[in-house]
Amino acid sequence: MQHLSITRPDDWHVHLRDGAALSAVVNFTARQFRRAIVMPNLSPAITTVAAAAAYRTRILAAVDPALKFEPLMTLYLTDKTPTPEIVAAAHSGFVKGIKLYPAGATTHSHAGVTDIAHVYAAVAALEEHGLPLLVHAETTDPAVDVFDREKVYIERVLAPLIMRFPKLKMVFEHLTTRDGVQFVQHAPQNIAATLTAHHLLYNRNAMFQGGIRPHFYCLPVLKREPHRLALLAAATGGSPKFFLGTDTAPHARGKKEHACGCAGIFTAPCALELYAEAFEQAGALDKLEGFASHYGADFYGLPRNQEKITLQKKSWTMPEHYAFNDDTIIPLRAGEQVRWSLHG
Ligand code: DOR
Ligand code: ZN
Repeated sequence: MQHLSITRPDDWHVHLRDGAALSAVVNFTARQFRRAIVMPNLSPAITTVAAAAAYRTRILAAVDPALKFEPLMTLYLTDKTPTPEIVAAAHSGFVKGIKLYPAGATTHSHAGVTDIAHVYAAVAALEEHGLPLLVHAETTDPAVDVFDREKVYIERVLAPLIMRFPKLKMVFEHLTTRDGVQFVQHAPQNIAATLTAHHLLYNRNAMFQGGIRPHFYCLPVLKREPHRLALLAAATGGSPKFFLGTDTAPHARGKKEHACGCAGIFTAPCALELYAEAFEQAGALDKLEGFASHYGADFYGLPRNQEKITLQKKSWTMPEHYAFNDDTIIPLRAGEQVRWSLHG
């Protein structure tokens, strides 16, 4: 297949940052996607509807006016998020989810949730109002091996949580394990998951190819090949529970190539093309449209997009880097081939 025409997709998990960094990256996303769920892990975090409204305005101001792009906002859940704030978010019209970061799990997560019991009242309000809880599903217990953190979080937190709140709409963000796939598949219809392009295309060997490769480091970290294959099967299996969320997470080169490098992979310049590679690899290009353009909107109760885009089987070379504030940013595939091109 040389051309693939699909409904314009949405990105259900993106980090757009703020200030000059926002201006440097937002149009890569806006060029590909009609809408995106914007993560709230700024510093300070976006914890109120008022802060989300102001952030949304800054995002729209940074978007190329020739592009139609709608940021869908989220709030950052803390131990102390007041229930009325959740209710206000549900009624706001522009806040589409509440993000749960276990405290200490990842970038700017120190203000996150220290114990799931602290947020039961907030989660009850989410369940009641039908606003999705978006979960970074990794335990922060230092005794747990870094590659097992997702599995243990499912056992200790998520499985009991969905029993306690059976009607809660929940998105298991950036799923990385076979255990996570099975959990979502066996859970009721109100539980879904996003999958990144990098977790569909790479296993943990990519981080250690001939030396340490910091641009392949993200959280949750890349896993073993059998996990990657389980994710690919889930993405291409046609289930509406699994949909696109790039988790594109830009960091300046100096903060990635560092003694204590930041977690995050910048895929925004070629996100859709990478998903096309993964689906082609699985012989399932016919399943890309549902995954990229239909199921996420359906889960969030939003209309599907109307316009179309076309992917062409034509290679191009990803630039070595892009400008990023007073540093640069290294995209995934820097200086390498991307096998599909996006038009429209
Ligand atoms: O790799 C990651 N980067 N994982 C996250 O959970 C956060 C993100 C970021 O904000 O940099
Ligand atoms: Zn993320």
